[in-house]
Amino acid sequence: MGGFYGAAATRMPPLLGPDRELLIVLLATEPVGFLDLDTDRETSDGIDLTYFVVPGHRRRGVGLAALRALVAGRPDRRFVAAVRPDNVASLALARAAGFTQTGSDEWGDLVLVHRGLPSSASGGPSHL
Ligand SMILES: CC(C)(COP(=O)(O)OP(=O)(O)OC[C@H]1O[C@@H](n2cnc3c(N)ncnc32)[C@H](O)[C@@H]1OP(=O)(O)O)[C@@H](O)C(=O)NCCC(=O)NCCS
Repeated sequence: MGGFYGAAATRMPPLLGPDRELLIVLLATEPVGFLDLDTDRETSDGIDLTYFVVPGHRRRGVGLAALRALVAGRPDRRFVAAVRPDNVASLALARAAGFTQTGSDEWGDLVLVHRGLPSSASGGPSHL
């Protein structure tokens, strides 16, 4: 994937434990992003989530499709994203995916939570 996050995604797998999942987003067979789930940092708000799409594939719906697949595949889970207030793209993506802002954390990041899907709305990919 290149860049800082690409290097991070390449080096992270050996470090992953049972409390950490790195889901690679594939477009056909090309890795174009990832979702990083840190269940070790799961709070009552949900599983700590970070997401990334490579610059050349942004604004094409990849991030939204990935987040929708994630929440549809795990409708009983909650997810929480801490986003810098100036990260317009991340805030807009999270809101488009159904996250709502609940406050801010001690670092001044905005906290957005997805509270899961109603059971009638599930049925998405089961492999996520
Ligand atoms: C945030 C990020 C994952 C978005 O991924 P993406 O694939 O470009 O997002 P999408 O194309 O699915 O966008 C979905 C919606 O989010 C909003 N959005 C996405 N990028 C936006 C931007 N730069 N400005 C304003 N709105 C934006 C739009 O509403 C968009 O829908 P639209 O294109 O139909 O208007 C990507 O910009 C990224 O990897 N950024 C760097 C890493 C990062 O900041 N991660 C978040 C850490 S908390």
